[in-house]
Amino acid sequence: MYSSLVMEHFSNPRNVGTIPDADGIGLEGNPVCGDLMKIFIKVSDGHITDVKFQTFGCGAAIATSSMVTEMVKGKTLEEALAITNRTVANALGGLPLNKMHCSNLAADALHKAIEDYRSKQKEKVGTG
Ligand code: FES
Repeated sequence: MYSSLVMEHFSNPRNVGTIPDADGIGLEGNPVCGDLMKIFIKVSDGHITDVKFQTFGCGAAIATSSMVTEMVKGKTLEEALAITNRTVANALGGLPLNKMHCSNLAADALHKAIEDYRSKQKEKVGTG
């Protein structure tokens, strides 16, 4: 049912944890199952230099989050924003159809973390 890559990321997830001084944090919930995903990013010169995630989610959510953190490290914010749930699922060798909704958590939480970073930057400019 799951690809070997999904199983591998589920069993050995990358970048689990938090970043206490994160530049952006994105929280996303899945209304279908009630699972939650939080992504933390550090940004320097328009690039994502570090990323971590915490999840209260299923195996597919863990695997997609692990994969998304691997995919965005070192990428520009624009490149990271271009990553969709479909891109992540494809990178994992596909997900069962009834688990595709789980991959939304990772991509959406990442996009929210970038939005959070950008709004904080605007605040800084506004008050600076
Ligand atoms: Fe909730 Fe997969 S079942 S994220």
